[in-house]
Amino acid sequence: MHKDEIICTIQGVSKLYRVKKGFFSAKTMEIQALDNVSLKVRRQEILGLVGESGCGKSTLARLILGLEKPSAGKINFEGIDLSALKGDHLKRFRKKVQMVFQDPFSSLNPKKTIFQIISQPLRIHGICPRSELRREVRRLLEMAGLHNPGIENRYPHEFSGGQRQRIGIARALATRPDLVVMDEPTSALDVSIQAQIINLILDLQESRNITCLFISHDLPIVEFVSHRVAVMYKGAIVEIMPKERFGLVQKGLDTPHHPYTDFLMKSVPVPTPEASMCGTGQTDHDLEEPFEVKSSRWDNLSGCKFYPRCPHATQKCKDEKPLPVEISQGHTIFCHLFTPSDKELGTNEV
Ligand SMILES: Nc1ncnc2c1ncn2[C@@H]1O[C@H](COP(=O)(O)OP(=O)(O)O)[C@@H](O)[C@H]1O
Ligand SMILES: [Mg+2]
Repeated sequence: MHKDEIICTIQGVSKLYRVKKGFFSAKTMEIQALDNVSLKVRRQEILGLVGESGCGKSTLARLILGLEKPSAGKINFEGIDLSALKGDHLKRFRKKVQMVFQDPFSSLNPKKTIFQIISQPLRIHGICPRSELRREVRRLLEMAGLHNPGIENRYPHEFSGGQRQRIGIARALATRPDLVVMDEPTSALDVSIQAQIINLILDLQESRNITCLFISHDLPIVEFVSHRVAVMYKGAIVEIMPKERFGLVQKGLDTPHHPYTDFLMKSVPVPTPEASMCGTGQTDHDLEEPFEVKSSRWDNLSGCKFYPRCPHATQKCKDEKPLPVEISQGHTIFCHLFTPSDKELGTNEV
């Protein structure tokens, strides 16, 4: 098994949703949740996916998990096209790809004991004999840092948010998956608990060699956990880079980024003594300005989607979709600011 091996290929994937225009209206309109997304997930990496709320992160997660079908494009997992999966192949796929949800309160069935919750995937996929189920559930709980004896006989409401997320992680790892999609796994947790869950995820990823798609809108967390980071804006990937180039730690150094990534990074609050005394975080950037745009203007753009918000926008940005430019090894940006050279990829695959 080689680390550069591709486990999942997302190729030119778009997703349209048809929604009612208003509560009483019979008219419908289309929402483009994903627009021609291409991405390769490498085996045993943690690929971070960041972008503001509504940019399509969870939609991409649902498509990778096979819970919904793309409107266009293909998703390939270990060489098999997801749209062709049926019967035993589909069951095998469900065993290999698991999910950790954002909300540890609603993602566990309140009527079932922890034993029932974690043993279900073990039974469905025949992971271990019936007589071994209890021992395996205890082993998984221990692995997720839950050591109290008899814990498996209790119900979800008896646990705190952090403990429930540990249970969710134990359940996801029960089938010994190759790929785990984590959609905002720490967003519902207190900051101190977030750190514990992040450390658990890092330990497990390393000890069990899993591949992880880690979705979050929290840049410092994504930078901390990921090997590579992809940035999404309005349903499209705008930049993908190795963690070292993501650059919150390199703030002030001269790493070039897509203007949207720059904007996101500058929006991360920088704690200063004055700000702590006033109870506010200081940002380098005024979030209100100059980015006031009506949402309807985003969807019909023929050029770059960030054009209406971009301080560097030109006529070309308005008219033409930017092609990916690999500015250094593994660092690709979709932006006209970066001139295509001989390193230009020419496709939108990253
Ligand atoms: N089932 C759905 N029906 C209609 N619109 C949807 C559905 N799911 C997501 N969307 C829309 O698609 C866009 C992307 O949503 P989502 O993937 O949830 O974003 P994120 O996870 O980045 O916050 C949003 O505009 C959202 O309203
Ligand atoms: Mg989401």
